[in-house]
Amino acid sequence: MVTLSSALQTDLSQPLRIGNLAVNSRVLQSPLSGVTDLVFRRLVRRYAPDSMMYTEMVSASELHHMRQLPKLMEIDPHERPISIQLFDCRPDFLAEAAQKAVAEGADTIDINMGCPVNKITKKGGGSSLLRQPELAEEIVRSVVAAVDVPVTVKTRIGWSEQDINAIEFAQRMEAAGAKMLTLHGRTRSQGYNGAADWNWIAKVKAVLSIPVIANGDIVSVESALRCLEVTGADGVMCSRGTLGYPFLVGEIDYFLKTGARLPAPSPVDRLQCAREHLVMLWDYKGDRGIRQARKHMAWYAKDFPGAAELRNQLTLIESVDQGVELLDGAIDRLVAVESNQSLN
Ligand SMILES: Cc1cc2nc3c(=O)[nH]c(=O)nc-3n(C[C@H](O)[C@H](O)[C@H](O)COP(=O)(O)O)c2cc1C
Repeated sequence: MVTLSSALQTDLSQPLRIGNLAVNSRVLQSPLSGVTDLVFRRLVRRYAPDSMMYTEMVSASELHHMRQLPKLMEIDPHERPISIQLFDCRPDFLAEAAQKAVAEGADTIDINMGCPVNKITKKGGGSSLLRQPELAEEIVRSVVAAVDVPVTVKTRIGWSEQDINAIEFAQRMEAAGAKMLTLHGRTRSQGYNGAADWNWIAKVKAVLSIPVIANGDIVSVESALRCLEVTGADGVMCSRGTLGYPFLVGEIDYFLKTGARLPAPSPVDRLQCAREHLVMLWDYKGDRGIRQARKHMAWYAKDFPGAAELRNQLTLIESVDQGVELLDGAIDRLVAVESNQSLN
């Protein structure tokens, strides 16, 4: 069992200070395109009431040409603290988008400088800004000047293994006015493969005054503690570990605050959560919500007898009723197995 050294524990018991914003949790839910919509965030928030959440990334150029705010930027007035994440390479469009995001209720503006996807980097956004640090700096300055909420940056350790510039880049972001830096310990070339290198996060943390949040491979209480030990970071951000598992941020947060573990959700708990997720997506997005729900449902259906078959069926659902029927059937079967086991 890994525990935190007492020196670190003292530090982490204090609120996370992002500029003038105090957040009572050191565990953050990352922005995940196609995942962290208002519905998903509502589920995460239930278990992690104090944690910072992020919208999916929003293109500032597209926003510039839109008459209405996209659903991506919709915030529930009760969900705080919340950050709207923007991406682009145009400082003026980003400043304008940030103002719209603040009007919508964002507590911070996060700028994506880590996305590795070609479609984004070819247009100069996401991780391609790692190769244009002057422009990245100009972007931060421009957004900082446009809004009165803290501006933060999420990035990677470098473009490629031969081109790791995390330290210099992070210092530039801080000098430009960023109030927090989230560092994903992979390069752009790695995509989502290989292990995140937390040592680079430690090196960056050592030279910055603003909070540094460690990201990459945080999938459990144990990995969060190990990462905090290795990096000395001010907090951790959970990403793929939350897919089909909106309990993760809350589990880590609870452990950091109390030193105790929440009971792990049973397969029935997880499928009941999946059912709720599906119904909420349907209510919020209609048919588009059902199409999006397929992948979520597949992520929930794992680690119990019959999970593979259920997963295959859930990836094909055409309606909310069909999904609910499949999930209810699976829940009934699991409950029957559990009660048989307790009788024997
Ligand atoms: C499906 C998916 C969507 C993502 N969307 C975003 C995004 O919109 N903005 C962002 O900054 N990072 C995005 N990321 C990157 C994650 O936030 C995170 O940095 C990365 O997955 C590393 O953490 P992990 O190893 O714990 O998954 C996305 C990752 C995945 C897998």
